Amino acid sequence: MFRLTLIVGFFCIASVALEDSSEDNDRIIGGRNIAITEAPYQISMQNKGIHFCGGSIISPKVVLTAAHCIAGVDGVSLSDLTCRAGSTMWSNGGQVRNIVAMISHPKYNPKTKEADIGVLILSPAFKFDTGVKPIKLADGVPTDGKAGIISGWGVTRDKGVIVSTMLKCAEVTSISRKNCSQPPWDYGDEILPSMICARGDGKDACQGDSGGPYVSKATNKLWGVVSWGRGCAREAYPGVYTAVVAFKKWITKHIEENK
Ligand code: ARG
Repeated sequence: MFRLTLIVGFFCIASVALEDSSEDNDRIIGGRNIAITEAPYQISMQNKGIHFCGGSIISPKVVLTAAHCIAGVDGVSLSDLTCRAGSTMWSNGGQVRNIVAMISHPKYNPKTKEADIGVLILSPAFKFDTGVKPIKLADGVPTDGKAGIISGWGVTRDKGVIVSTMLKCAEVTSISRKNCSQPPWDYGDEILPSMICARGDGKDACQGDSGGPYVSKATNKLWGVVSWGRGCAREAYPGVYTAVVAFKKWITKHIEENK
């Protein structure tokens, strides 16, 4: 009898522990589920209908993403690549568009991750509605301690492999470039002038969120593009984002050329 109680007791504790950890982790990493109408600029970049990166709508035919997302499908036929907007699920619904061109920033350096930014040109143009809307580019980088929102369908735990079915977001706090290259953060001189950092306790972007938006909570403008990090949501390693303002001229030129 005592043994049975012990076993039952163990299972109760074990199942509570399991539920607790999924509460914490079964989201972007530490985030919550949202509807696409809360982040209508978010798109899913897909290869043969499978999500692999995020992006942000900046005009009817232009999406902003990370250059490493474009490099990741080097050799893949453009006809296999699409963007889905307007759906909370990456796998169905909303509007699907063909990618007719992908342009990485000429200064992109895969080794240092400098200028990890690029544009996708779509056909036909998106039709804007409550779930599909462009986001404005920010005119600066956040100073320390500002609230921002990240979103995506990426993995929900560090070292995870399964991407999320539903869109998730998390609120993170900005760390200026200068502070991000100093203790208590451990990146040192890996943080370049065109990078910004953001973190939250147990909150971060992760694999599959790349290319996606990092948005100012106060102005709803796009501060950054999900770029890299050492692991995800680790103590000494904030998420690193490409600062949109550093490449604004180049981005705007592509918007103008694709009206
Ligand atoms: N490079 C990753 C991707 O391709 C995203 C990394 C973001 N990591 C982070 N810890 N914030 O999806």
